Amino acid sequence: MTTAARTALHALPLEQLRRRSSTKWRTYPEDVLPLFVAETDFPLAEAITARLREALELGDTGYTPPDPGLRTAFAAYAQRHFGWTVQPDRIRSTCDVMMGVVEILRAVIAPGDRVIVAPPVYPPFFDCVEEAGGVVERVPLIDVDGSWILDLAGIERALAGGARAVLLCNPHNPTGTVHSRSVLAQLAEIAADHGAVVVSDEIHAPLVHPGVEYTPFLAASPRATEVGYTVTSASKAYNLAGLKCAVMVTASEETAAVVRTLPPEVEWRTGLFGALAAVAAWNPASDPWLEALRVALDDNRRLLGRLLAEQLPEARYRLPDAGYLAWVDLRDLGWGDDPASRILREARVALNRGPTFGDEGRGHVRINLGCSPDVLTEAVLRIAALVRR
Ligand SMILES: Cc1ncc(COP(=O)(O)O)c(C=O)c1O
Repeated sequence: MTTAARTALHALPLEQLRRRSSTKWRTYPEDVLPLFVAETDFPLAEAITARLREALELGDTGYTPPDPGLRTAFAAYAQRHFGWTVQPDRIRSTCDVMMGVVEILRAVIAPGDRVIVAPPVYPPFFDCVEEAGGVVERVPLIDVDGSWILDLAGIERALAGGARAVLLCNPHNPTGTVHSRSVLAQLAEIAADHGAVVVSDEIHAPLVHPGVEYTPFLAASPRATEVGYTVTSASKAYNLAGLKCAVMVTASEETAAVVRTLPPEVEWRTGLFGALAAVAAWNPASDPWLEALRVALDDNRRLLGRLLAEQLPEARYRLPDAGYLAWVDLRDLGWGDDPASRILREARVALNRGPTFGDEGRGHVRINLGCSPDVLTEAVLRIAALVRR
């Protein structure tokens, strides 16, 4: 890597962040360090700021047009970053990733059908299966030689028992796991054999760490193109969650036809600012910003490892393959199922509570690393001080 590519993006100072009005900054009082919800503390990419500023100056705040440029922008981005060829006409937009997931699930399952999720997993996965009329079937990740992987045998049993769909998280939140091409191809094979579908949430894909090979589900194998639906957005990597825009991608005539049956409102609810910002994010002009963000996050995931080893050796942590979320096992501290509650109360650090990710999350916390090294250090020191009390 060249020196220029190692330039890290710097998070904004806390005084500035505290003026933000988003969930991360308005849920807790000022003495709490917020390292919970998946928002990041960095300045926006300049191309995004410029595009939104131009729209604001024009009062360009109306409805989103049928094709605000998302299709060609995402197709070019997928090719450039993931080597994934997507046909622009197989891309449809919606207001956020979870809405895309719910509406696709609703279209492919019948009420009461079982949908497989792999806990510990992003908590809304449980709710969105129910919102789509399905019933959650849990097939937890398995720990093989220190890596979290999908339990393909368990998934196959669930599909053979009648489950109709798999809700995949690739990269996986909260463990940061990037599923291998071989695992994804096997998953596609199993799903196809049982006439089931795979809905793949790939929102964290732009943030894969150095040395990790990422495979979009639809690029895993020809079978994956037949059974898969991908939902993704620029909202995690580029911190645009409040602007409401995501894309649904398919790679076969049959799956594209299913997406065309979704109610027009699903696409109509795409936020115009979200679409403008996503097009700017996916433009090559924003690539250097993304690279600098990835350097900062790579540094932070390693910094957390060092801090925990020095300050909180009871904690067990594996470097995430992707993203800015760290899954930390605090069971050895003996703080019960929900250590995040005590940490919030007594250390004044807000983390995500492990049990909300499924039973497998008992005794765990999720830490958001998308902050400055100083904030991350202060958070760990506060937690460590609790142990020494
Ligand atoms: C895996 C995953 N999917 C979806 C979302 C939420 O995306 P959206 O706000 O677009 O629904 C998040 C947010 O953290 C996430 O981690």
